[in-house]
Amino acid sequence: MDLTTERAKGGPRHVAIIMDGNGRWAQARGKPRLFGHHAGAKRVREIVEACPDLGVRYLTIFAFSTENWKRTQTEVAGLMSLFRRYITREARSLFKEGVRVRFIGDRIKLDEKLVRLMDDLELMTSDNDRVHLTIALNYGGRDEVARATKRLAREVKAGRLDPEKVDAESLAKYLDTYVLPDPDLVIRTSGEARISNFLLWQSAYAEYEFIDTLWPDFTAETFARSVASYAGRERRFGAVPG
Ligand code: FPP
Repeated sequence: MDLTTERAKGGPRHVAIIMDGNGRWAQARGKPRLFGHHAGAKRVREIVEACPDLGVRYLTIFAFSTENWKRTQTEVAGLMSLFRRYITREARSLFKEGVRVRFIGDRIKLDEKLVRLMDDLELMTSDNDRVHLTIALNYGGRDEVARATKRLAREVKAGRLDPEKVDAESLAKYLDTYVLPDPDLVIRTSGEARISNFLLWQSAYAEYEFIDTLWPDFTAETFARSVASYAGRERRFGAVPG
């Protein structure tokens, strides 16, 4: 298929979301930040369940960035415990809903118990195909490219890869996302217009949608509106309009 120009008919196939605003949502209610993260985690199920009707086959969500370790120890520990509980509690329903779960990011800094839960959930849902949910955990776009480059360099060193043959396509095979299509639409909640190191490589031609809603208030309806606003945008992939 010629991808140089294409009208974004219908909905986006792959939506990526930067779930921002949990802290402010909690603060506005006089509660600790973790209260907002818990409310945010509850929203994830609703958004995943909305995907099939909206024609969204791939959903990628930013749960924890390589920079989020700079938060207080209480918040980091609370988030890690929330991830463990989320996986334990949601595994069955994700499986039954036909969701295939994948995790991207560097697992090296994550605790063993969490990594085991992540591996188990990936394995348990590996035959599912209805919705592909990818959770970015200890993920950073630059870190991902650096890790990919390291693996590629090892292949070159071992004589298995000709450096002259390295191009964008071959490098992309070493990224965490190598089995996923590039995102068509990236949504960021909470009014910030930044991409914060999320899917830097993969979003080269994505459409962006920055919305004011804080993540814990982001409903299936808000999601449907963002998806609808994508339809009809002209995507040129660098080409001159025809
Ligand atoms: C950003 O809000 C949010 C995060 C760093 C964490 C995202 C996590 C969740 C939505 C919860 C769980 C997710 C899963 C997959 C179980 P913020 O704290 O930066 O908000 P602020 O900008 O208002 O401070």
